Amino acid sequence: MIARELREKTRPLLLTNIGQLLTLKHPSGKEQPRRKQDLSNLSIVNNAAVLIQEGKIAAIGRDSEVTNRLSSEDRSDLESFDCTGAVVLPGFVDSHTHPVFTAPRLIDFEKRIHGSTYEEIAGAGGGICSSVEGVRSATPQELSCKVLHVCERMQKSGTTTMEAKSGYGLSTDSELKSLRAIGCAATQWPGTIVPTLLAAHVVPSEFQGKADQYVDVVCKQMIPKAAEEKLAKFVDVFCERGAFSLEQTERVFAVAKPAGLGVRAHVCQFTPHDLSSLAEFDPASFDHLDCLRDRDLEALADQNTIATLLPGASYFLAHSYPMARRLIDAGAAVALATDFNPGTSPTTSMTLMLSMACTQMRMTPAEAIAAATINGAHALRLAGSKGSIELGKDADLAIFDVKDYREICYWFGTQHCRATVLNGELAVH
Ligand code: NIG
Ligand code: FE
Repeated sequence: MIARELREKTRPLLLTNIGQLLTLKHPSGKEQPRRKQDLSNLSIVNNAAVLIQEGKIAAIGRDSEVTNRLSSEDRSDLESFDCTGAVVLPGFVDSHTHPVFTAPRLIDFEKRIHGSTYEEIAGAGGGICSSVEGVRSATPQELSCKVLHVCERMQKSGTTTMEAKSGYGLSTDSELKSLRAIGCAATQWPGTIVPTLLAAHVVPSEFQGKADQYVDVVCKQMIPKAAEEKLAKFVDVFCERGAFSLEQTERVFAVAKPAGLGVRAHVCQFTPHDLSSLAEFDPASFDHLDCLRDRDLEALADQNTIATLLPGASYFLAHSYPMARRLIDAGAAVALATDFNPGTSPTTSMTLMLSMACTQMRMTPAEAIAAATINGAHALRLAGSKGSIELGKDADLAIFDVKDYREICYWFGTQHCRATVLNGELAVH
């Protein structure tokens, strides 16, 4: 593993013959999340080449310019990849996933087909709670294998960075075990994984009727341990009827921030909440936002918080889609993610999210691509190194066998991602 990394990272890689290179570089060099018309500017270079050295972007330009600038020393040990006119863009940043579980939830799936709602199933002991036993009894190795397998499938549709939440252990040991499994998978996948502690996902059965006591455990044991062992970058809460209240979410945020962890929350998936008190904690993202109050929608225009939209969950639950058009037009910084999980969105495909964003949420292909790359990077507070193809940034790219970038959103249910570059390492699919 180490030997492979050294070889791949020290040997320069040249991508040639790129038909359209979507750099996502902001024309004014701004490092702010993309809003309004800035979401539509993909900064495209035609007939391009990209040089990658030591895992970073070392040169970008017209094919002939980049090639002519190479020194003879560079040329002698160069790996070259002919993109044959393909579209190349920043690898997708999937900023919301739940990959640490052991089995699909097929009984819930059939119950919904027969007419039960997600909330009814969860209220009757199904849903998130039914994934807990599998995680509690799994070994750390079994869990990290599951996570690695998810990463590899994500990569096939062009994802090179993903957030990964715990949230099906719901005890101190099993939440920490889940985070360690994420950390272990991160050492084996050449892409980048950002771990999030989602211990406040639902109240586990042994704390039924004692939600506040469970929140105490989250605040007094899980967050301090995750912070001390540097197992997580963020803390997330499912703030929803049947999960955790606004007050409980605030308590978790109030402990996470001084512990040095960023915060984010699942909000307004089924019921609207007043988000103003949570916004004061400067969350990295508010996720779902399927039923947002007008006031909160407008407030997002002035916040750093990214509005992360998850069309896979709307599709799988046959639920209304988030109001992307209104959010974008109001000035919110919108991101798209899969929400990969066994209950509401069992898909690893970011390209499917792009298709849904265009056909169901009226986002343009350009807006959808910016939301899935640079704004996803902002949602993980990684935009300094991820989400666009710029000199010095991490070399994370996706190579699609199409001529026009809009085709990435247009074809659905088929795979057009030919190769990825993950932190400088080329993987041909
Ligand atoms: O983002 N809403 C809460 N969490 C997940 C669902 C998790 C599950 O059902 O396993 C979501 O949709
Ligand atoms: Fe989620």
